[in-house]
Amino acid sequence: MDLKLKDKTVFITGSTAGIGFATAKALLNEGAKVIVNGRTNQSIDSALSKLKQDFPSGDVSGFAADFGDLESAKLLCATLPELDILINNVGIYKAAPFFEMEDSSWYQQFENNVMSGVRLSRHFLPKMLKKNWGRILFISSECAELVPPDLLAYSMTKTAMVAIAKGLAQLTKASGVTVNSILPGSTLSEGAEQFLKDEAAKSGKTKETVEADFFKEVRTSSLLQRFATVDEVASTIAYYCSPLASATNGSALKVEGGSTGGLI
Ligand SMILES: NC(=O)c1ccc[n+]([C@@H]2O[C@H](COP(=O)([O-])OP(=O)(O)OC[C@H]3O[C@@H](n4cnc5c(N)ncnc54)[C@H](OP(=O)(O)O)[C@@H]3O)[C@@H](O)[C@H]2O)c1
Repeated sequence: MDLKLKDKTVFITGSTAGIGFATAKALLNEGAKVIVNGRTNQSIDSALSKLKQDFPSGDVSGFAADFGDLESAKLLCATLPELDILINNVGIYKAAPFFEMEDSSWYQQFENNVMSGVRLSRHFLPKMLKKNWGRILFISSECAELVPPDLLAYSMTKTAMVAIAKGLAQLTKASGVTVNSILPGSTLSEGAEQFLKDEAAKSGKTKETVEADFFKEVRTSSLLQRFATVDEVASTIAYYCSPLASATNGSALKVEGGSTGGLI
């Protein structure tokens, strides 16, 4: 299917690895012009060289900015070109019991996960409305709905992202702009891969057994009963970037392997 994304300019936060990087690949494959982001020039250069290898004629560039740092985010808004598509993907998490989670950790996760998307949307949404076309996607999580107690602060940020996308969509009435949130489930990014390896080393089990046990004992509601691949999530994100997805607006779109249940 041609997603009709040729020459659309896309910025993806947190995209030198994981779901963001896979999304960059999916969009380059559709002929979009992609700007990737990570915290350092070194990680950007490494991501760009991999992408240029896979897409030698692709239009791809990078911009280092740390969303934990307000000045860096401001500079980003001032420097980026006009965008057709903004993907608010960056997300950090800290797992800890509620009674042990420091204020600073709540604020840090809020700053990175929520305020990054708020600031970029405040800057780019008016420009999209002016030209009457645009896509903003907030990459939330199944945790927005499941709210695991050891991931309470993270889950709060992910629920906030769904609310913000819904609210911003109200500002797009009768325009060609849409704002949606995407809720991935457990996804085999480099971070998740490392988690499985660490758990395997700690427990003496194989990585495969650790994964199977995670779905048997922790994410029991998953219908998929395995981690999604980053490409499975990226292809969903790419579709909702497309002009073909023009009738979906203000929605919370799940790619969580059925873990959140519910009728809708
Ligand atoms: N993986 C999952 O199971 C899962 C499930 C549900 C939802 N999600 C959500 O999907 C999104 C992507 O997840 P992921 O697992 O692919 O992430 P990840 O692998 O942890 O993401 C790493 C990327 O984020 C960048 N990054 C980290 N902190 C940053 C900061 N302060 N400023 C700018 N970039 C930063 C890293 O860049 P550098 O290292 O180059 O700085 C790298 O490009 C997140 O919002 C996450 O909450 C993930």
